[in-house]
Amino acid sequence: MTPLHTETVAAPAGTGLPRPGTLADVKGWFFDQDQVLFDWLLTHQARSGVRGDLLEMGAYLGKSAAFLGRYLDSGEEFTVCDLFDSPAGDAANDEEMQRSYATLSRRAFEANYLAFHDELPTIIQGPTSLVPEKVAPGSCRFVHVDASHLYDHVRGDITAARRVLSPEGVVVLDDYRSEHTPGVSAATWEALFTEGLRPICLSRCKFYGTWGDPAPWQEALILEIVGRADCHADLQTIAGHRVLRLVGERGPAMPEPPRSRYYEALRAEERAAEEIRRRREESDARAAAAAGEAGAAAEAAQRRAAARRPKARARRAALLLLPPVVTKGLRRLRSR
Ligand SMILES: C[S@@+](CC[C@H](N)C(=O)[O-])C[C@H]1O[C@@H](n2cnc3c(N)ncnc32)[C@H](O)[C@@H]1O
Repeated sequence: MTPLHTETVAAPAGTGLPRPGTLADVKGWFFDQDQVLFDWLLTHQARSGVRGDLLEMGAYLGKSAAFLGRYLDSGEEFTVCDLFDSPAGDAANDEEMQRSYATLSRRAFEANYLAFHDELPTIIQGPTSLVPEKVAPGSCRFVHVDASHLYDHVRGDITAARRVLSPEGVVVLDDYRSEHTPGVSAATWEALFTEGLRPICLSRCKFYGTWGDPAPWQEALILEIVGRADCHADLQTIAGHRVLRLVGERGPAMPEPPRSRYYEALRAEERAAEEIRRRREESDARAAAAAGEAGAAAEAAQRRAAARRPKARARRAALLLLPPVVTKGLRRLRSR
């Protein structure tokens, strides 16, 4: 495990590290519907005076982490736990890492994060089993669980989330219903049936819950959804627990993806490249037109020459065929 880390510089150009212009340029799995739900829940926490730290287990290249970091209030801490380039320490998790996250590096995560923020979060580089010893019990208001998707690990991550969350805290469990992650589904519903986890809402990819009272969160979400054209809420009950489901063709979209510190420079580079392309096209068109004119002039000259040719041939034939007296006369006429 690498010790806590605070600040480094954002990626200079030419280092091969990512320089995203917006969050949409950061590779990862954090879709519009969940960006909207994170925004609503974190904003609602801030409005209701719920304070506390933020924790993400499983950051990959920082897409959701960079988004979460925007909601950090003064005096709050954001901790990110990921293996990054370290070995997992158990064969199944190592195999999962190789299969799904082979290109991951901590430097790339840091470069992406610093594109959007001045300081790095607190980083625990290592397995999420370290979270209980590194994060204080009851200190967090928001925990995003998105690390290993294997049952035993997710189970441990849910237990860790419960330990570090305050009663008003919200936990988000990624991939609770994907075909390739049955272990997350099992651990999620097990926590609901046996560990007191209460559902708040469901998106296509994530389960949002709390060990406190879900009703205030659900009411706030319903108020956000009412009157929107791009989505509506479906209310269901699971074993006596009310759960909201966000329904919509694509779900609500974030109006604009968050911009990085490189945004203006990258747009200026794009505009400059566009201008160079435009000028090159113009000059190519001028050259083509000039070549066309020259070609037309050459063609006309050829046509004129061709038009002259039969007369010259006829003259030569006449000189050969006419009697010598006539040809002599003709020559005399031409030499005058
Ligand atoms: C699905 S990705 C995270 C996606 C990220 N939240 C995003 O928005 O794009 C899962 C991450 O979990 C990390 N991971 C896998 N097993 C882990 C473990 N046992 N402990 C800590 N991190 C782990 C991987 O390195 C990978 O970066």
